[in-house]
Amino acid sequence: RIAGPSVLVLFGVTGDLARKKLLPAIYDLANRGLLPPGFGLVGFARRDWEDQDFAAEAHEAVRQHARTPFREDVWRQLSEGVRFVPGELHDDDAFDRLAETVRELDARRGTGGNYAFYLSLPPKLFPTVVKQLKRSGLAESSDGSWRRVVIEKPFGHDLESARELNAVVDDVFPPQSVFRIDHYLGKETVQNIMALRFANTLFEPIWNRSYVDHVQITMAEDIGVGGRAGYYDGIGAARDVIQNHLLQLLALVAMEEPVSFSADALRAEKEKVLSAVTLPEDLAQGTARGQYAEGWQGGAPVVGYLQEDGIPPDSTTETYAAMKLGVNTRRWAGVPFYLRTGKRLGRRVTEVALVFQRAPHQVFSHTDIEEMGQNSLVLRIQPDEGVTLRFGSKVPGASMEVRDVSMDFTYGQSFTEASPEAYERLILDVLIGDPPLFPRQEEVELSWKILDPIEEFWTKNGRPEQYESGAWGPASAHELLARDGRQWRRP
Ligand code: BG6
Repeated sequence: RIAGPSVLVLFGVTGDLARKKLLPAIYDLANRGLLPPGFGLVGFARRDWEDQDFAAEAHEAVRQHARTPFREDVWRQLSEGVRFVPGELHDDDAFDRLAETVRELDARRGTGGNYAFYLSLPPKLFPTVVKQLKRSGLAESSDGSWRRVVIEKPFGHDLESARELNAVVDDVFPPQSVFRIDHYLGKETVQNIMALRFANTLFEPIWNRSYVDHVQITMAEDIGVGGRAGYYDGIGAARDVIQNHLLQLLALVAMEEPVSFSADALRAEKEKVLSAVTLPEDLAQGTARGQYAEGWQGGAPVVGYLQEDGIPPDSTTETYAAMKLGVNTRRWAGVPFYLRTGKRLGRRVTEVALVFQRAPHQVFSHTDIEEMGQNSLVLRIQPDEGVTLRFGSKVPGASMEVRDVSMDFTYGQSFTEASPEAYERLILDVLIGDPPLFPRQEEVELSWKILDPIEEFWTKNGRPEQYESGAWGPASAHELLARDGRQWRRP
C-alpha cells in the first residue's frame, strides 16, 4: 500500500499537533517509501514565512520527533515539494493565492489534481475554511481526481454542535471524502483488538457475559493540561477523550464480528454497540469526576489545575472522569463497562482489561487461594504495548497454594519492526482513500448521545472533586466500583 500522487494542504502548521505528530509522520511515510515522488505539502498559516522558512520549521520538527532515522536524500526529495502560503482564514485573496500555489505545485510535481485538506484547527474555524475551499474552487475535483478533507476531534462539544459542524462540512464535501481523525484508531494495539478477537479461536468463546464479570477501560496520563488551557478548559476529560477514544475502544471490544474489514461493515458493527450503550440509572452513583490538586509527579512538586496558566481560578472543568456503562445486547447484558480517564494520575497507561468471573466452585480451601484475584485478559494499548493473561498457578512446594501469575505478549519481543506512529497510518489511509479507521458521522452522534446526559447532570451538580496529583483519581471513582464489590485495577 503506497499513496498515489497527491498534495496535502495543512492548516494549522504552527500548532503543536503539526510539529509533534503530523510533519514527522509525513517524513516517516516518505522515509519508509510510502509516499510517491509526486507528492506536495502546502502549509497555510498566519505567519510571515516564505517556503524555505516553513521547510526549516518542518525540518526541525522532523529532526526532533520523527520515528525513523533522518536521511538527507529523503528530506531533499520531500522538501522540494514544500510550499507555504501566509494568510488569514477569512481572507479571500489568501485563499486565491493558496489555490494558485496548489495548482502550480500540482503541475510541477505531477500530483494529478488530487488534494487532501487537513484541518488541524479548532472546530470553530472549520466553517470558514470549508467555505473558502469551496469559494476558491479548491474543493471541486475534475477528471477523475479526488478531493478529501481531514478533520480532527473534537467533532463538536455535544450532539447539537456536532450536527451543525457536520452540516457545514457536508455542504461542500460528500461523506466519502470526509476523514474524521480519532488517532486511537491509528494505533497498532487498537487495531490488534480486532486481530486478537477475530483471527483467533481462543478468545471468542469466552468473550461474553457467561464468562466476563466486567470490563475496565483506562486511559491515564501523568501530564497536566500543559500549554493547552485554551482548548481544554470548558471541554474537560469526558469530552476530550471519552466521547471519542474510550468509546471507540469500547465499541471494538464489544462489537460483533464484522462480515469484512470494509469501512461500512466495521462502522455498522461499532454503531450497533454504541446504540446499545446504557447509562447508569443513578448518574450520581454511576459516574465520577475530579480535578487535579497540587501534588507530586516524577519526583517534583506540581501545581493544581486551578493554578495552571490560563485556567480561571473558579473553573469547574473536570480533568478526571469515570463512568459505568452497560451494553444492552445478548452478548453483554448485565456486564458493566467501567471507563476512566484522567490527567496527572500515577502514570501514563492505556489498557482494556476483561476481568473474568470466579470459578463456579473451588476445591481449594479459602486460605489456599488467598493471593489469587480474578482471571483477567489485559490489552496493553500503551506505553508497554502487548497483551497479558493473568491466572492462578500452584506455588511450588508441599502445600496447594494458588497465586496469580502472568503470561505476556510484548510487541518489542515478538516483532523486530517498531510500530508506526498512529498519524502515519492515518495520513497514509487518507492519501490512499481507505476509510475503515475513520469514524462516520453516525458514530460521532451516537457517542454524543451517550455523553450529553452525563455532561448535563454534571453541569447542574456542583464542582468536580479534587484529587491529589500523582494519585489515582478522586475517592468517588473508587466508591463507584466499591459499591459493586469491585475495584479498579492498578496498572
Ligand atoms: C488527545 C487529547 O486526543 O489525546 C489529549 O486531546 C491527550 O488531551 C491525548 O493528551 C493522548 O494521546 P496519546 O496518544 O498520548 O494517548
